[in-house]
Amino acid sequence: MAGEKKLDEWGTRFGVILAVAGSAVGLGNFLRFPGQAAQNGGGAFISPYFCALIFLGIPIGWAEWTMGRYGGRKGFRSAPAIMGIFGRGSAARYVGSIGVLIPVAVSFYYTFVETWCLGYCWHFLTGGIGVNPQAAIAEQTGASRAFFAESTGFGADGALFRLHNLETLLFFMIVFSINISLVYRGISKGIEKFCSWAMPSMAVCALIVLIRVLTLGTPDPAHPDQNVVNGLGYMWNPNFSALGNFRTWLAAAGQVFFTLSVGFGVIINYASYLRKKDDIALSGLTASATNEVFEVGFGGMITLTAAFIFLGVTGTTEAVSTGNFGLGFQTLPVVFAHMGSLGNLVGAVWFFMLFLAAITSSLSMYQPALAFSQEALGLSRKPATAAMAGLCIVGSFGVMWFSKGGVFLDTIDFWVGSFLIFVMAALQIIFFSWIFGIERGRKEAHNGALIRIPDVMWFVMRYVAPPYLIVVFIGFCVQNMKSSAQLIAASTAAKLALGLIALTTAALLAGVRIGEKRWRAAGLDIDDKIPLD
Ligand code: TRP
Repeated sequence: MAGEKKLDEWGTRFGVILAVAGSAVGLGNFLRFPGQAAQNGGGAFISPYFCALIFLGIPIGWAEWTMGRYGGRKGFRSAPAIMGIFGRGSAARYVGSIGVLIPVAVSFYYTFVETWCLGYCWHFLTGGIGVNPQAAIAEQTGASRAFFAESTGFGADGALFRLHNLETLLFFMIVFSINISLVYRGISKGIEKFCSWAMPSMAVCALIVLIRVLTLGTPDPAHPDQNVVNGLGYMWNPNFSALGNFRTWLAAAGQVFFTLSVGFGVIINYASYLRKKDDIALSGLTASATNEVFEVGFGGMITLTAAFIFLGVTGTTEAVSTGNFGLGFQTLPVVFAHMGSLGNLVGAVWFFMLFLAAITSSLSMYQPALAFSQEALGLSRKPATAAMAGLCIVGSFGVMWFSKGGVFLDTIDFWVGSFLIFVMAALQIIFFSWIFGIERGRKEAHNGALIRIPDVMWFVMRYVAPPYLIVVFIGFCVQNMKSSAQLIAASTAAKLALGLIALTTAALLAGVRIGEKRWRAAGLDIDDKIPLD
C-alpha cells in the first residue's frame, strides 16, 4: 500500500484542474452541444443553459468536489463508499453505486465513438474518406454515409466482426489499450500527465479549425447568403418562443450535466485524491469555466457554422435532425471536402482534437471503476485493473456487436447517460445539503479555499437545486418514458442493452456488499459518526 500511495495523488494544483476539465471537455462539447442548441431555440438556448449552469451545474459540482475530498481524507475513493458517508448508512452506499455505474456504462459506448474519431483522423491523414470534392452534394453525402455505416457497423449487427472489416476493432483495441494503460499508471503519472499535454494540444487544434472556419468568408459566389456571419446566425440567432417549451429547459439541464461531468461520480472520485488543504472552490470553478470556453467558444462556433457555409439552411437543418453523430461524422466530412486542398488536413486536425477530447473524458469513466474494485474487493492495482478492463471489454463488445442502427448504444445513452444522471445528481445534492448539512458543507468546502464561494450558492444548494432538479427529472420522465417503453417492447437490441446495464448493476451491488464487510472489519469510519474537525 505504501508504495501505491504516491500513485494516488495529484501532482500539482493545475494537474487536478486540467484532469477535471479534461473529463468535462469531450464529445459532448463539440457534437452534442451544437445539436442541442440548434434544435432548442438557437441563441435562446443559452438562457436556460446558463440557468442550469448557475443553479445546478456549478453548485452541484462544488458539492461533489467537497464530498470527494472529504471522503478521500477518510481513505475512500469511490462514490459508493463516499456517498455512504454523506448519506449516513448502507442504503446510501448501495445507491451510491450509480456513481460507478454511470461512468463505466457510458464508457461502453463512449470509447467506441472515441474509436471512430481515431479512425477518421487516420483516414483524413491518408487521403480522406472517399468524398469526391467535385461531386454533387447528394453524392458526397451518400459517400460519407456509406463510410460512416461501414466504420460504425450501423448497417448490420456483427458487421464489425467480419473478416474484411476488422479495421474498427483494431482501432478500438488501440484506443482501449491507451485508456487502460493510462489509468493503470495512476493519477499523477497517468491521467494528470496525459491531460497536461492533451488539453493545451486540444486548444491549439480547436483554434486552428475555428480560424479556418471563421475565415471561409463566402466560398460560393452563387450562394451569397451562405457566409460566416449567417452561419453563426444559424446557431446563435435566438428563437425566444422555444423558451416557453419545457423541452428546451430539459435539454439545457441534461446538456449541462453531461458536459460538466457533474453528478455522476467522476468528480467525487477525482477530488478524493486531493489533500485536506487543497483548494476546491477556485479549482471547481476554473474547471467548469474551461469547459465553457470549449463548449460555447469552440463547439458553438465551429460545427454548425462550417456546415451552414457549405450546405445552407436546408442542408444544415437536415444534418441537425440526423442527430449528433450524423452532424459530426456524416456532415462534417462533406464540409471538409469543400475546403480545397487543405480540407483533409483540417479534417485530420479536427478529428484528432475530438479524439484527445474523448480520451481525457473516457479516462474519467474508467478511473472510478478501477478505484471501486480496488477498495471494495481489496484488490491490488493489477487485478483491479484486469477486473475493470474485463467488464468494460464485455460492455464495449456488446455495443460493437449490436451495432445496427445504434439502438443498443442509444439505449445505454438514454438510461444511463441521461436518466440516471438526473438521479445521481439529485442524490448527491440532497445528501450533501440536507443530510450532511449545508453548514458543515460550507465549512468543509472552504478549507484551503482560494476564493470564497458566494453565500447565495449555499442557499441555492439547499433550496433551489433540489426542486429544480426534481421538476426537470419529472418532466424528463413524462416526456420520454412512453416512447422509451415502446422502444424497449419493440426492440431486442434495447432489451439486451438493458440486460447489460442490469448485469453491470448487479456486479456493482455485489461489490458494495463485499466492500462494506471489508471496511467494517478494518474498523473504517464508514458512516461518518465523527463530527467535522
Ligand atoms: N463530459 C464529457 C463530455 O462532454 C462526457 C463525460 C465525461 C461523461 N465523463 C463522463 C459522461 C462520465 C458520463 C459519465 O463529452
